[in-house]
Amino acid sequence: MADWATDPAYWRYQHVGPIDEAGVRRFIGEAVSSQSDESRRLFDFAVCLRDTAELIGTVRVAIVEPMHREAMLGYGFSKTHWGQGYGLEAVQKVLPFTFVALGVHRLTAVCDQDNEASYKLVQKLGFTLEGRLRGHRRVLGTGDDHNPVYSDSLIFGMLSDELI
Ligand SMILES: CC(C)(COP(=O)(O)OP(=O)(O)OC[C@H]1O[C@@H](n2cnc3c(N)ncnc32)[C@H](O)[C@@H]1OP(=O)(O)O)[C@@H](O)C(=O)NCCC(=O)NCCS
Repeated sequence: MADWATDPAYWRYQHVGPIDEAGVRRFIGEAVSSQSDESRRLFDFAVCLRDTAELIGTVRVAIVEPMHREAMLGYGFSKTHWGQGYGLEAVQKVLPFTFVALGVHRLTAVCDQDNEASYKLVQKLGFTLEGRLRGHRRVLGTGDDHNPVYSDSLIFGMLSDELI
C-alpha cells in the first residue's frame, strides 16, 4: 500500500495527506483494530486483483452518526490502476453491505470540486448531488510548492431505498 498511498498524486484532491509509510501503517493498524471494536464504526475493505491478490485500493465506510444511521464513504486506488473501472466495481460491491448488512440509512460522499474521477464514480452509482460547500477543505495547490488552497466540496448522498 505504501507504494501508491504515499504518492502526492493520490492526495491531490483529498483534504488530508500526503502520508508517509508510517501513516500507511497507522491507517492499516486502525483498520485492523477497529474490527474488534464493540460498537464498530469503521469498515475498511482491501481491494485486490483477482489473479495476483495485489492490493490496489481501499474502500471505507465510516458510521458517523449511529443514531441517524448515517455513514461516510471513502475510497482510493493505486494510480497505475486508475481509469480501468476498479473504483466503480469496488464501491458498487460495498453498497449492499452498507445498506443491508449495516442497516445504514444515508451514505454521504464528499468530493473536491475538481476531483472529476471521484464525483463521476459516485454519480454513475446513482448518488445524488445535494450541494456545494464553498471553501470547505484545504487541498494541495497546483503550484510548484503545492501549498494548500481552500477548495469547494461537492456533497453527494444515497439513501437506503435508492440502492439499485
Ligand atoms: C477517484 C478514484 C478512486 C477513481 O477510481 P478509478 O478506478 O480510477 O475509477 P473508474 O475507472 O472506476 O471510473 C469511474 C468513472 O469515473 C470517470 N473517470 C475516471 N477517471 C477519470 C478522470 N481522470 N477524469 C474524468 N473522469 C474520470 C469515468 O467516467 C468512469 O466512468 P466510465 O465507466 O464512464 O469510464 C481514483 O481516481 C483515485 O484513487 N484517486 C485518488 C484518491 C481519491 O481522490 N479518492 C477520492 C477522495 S473523495
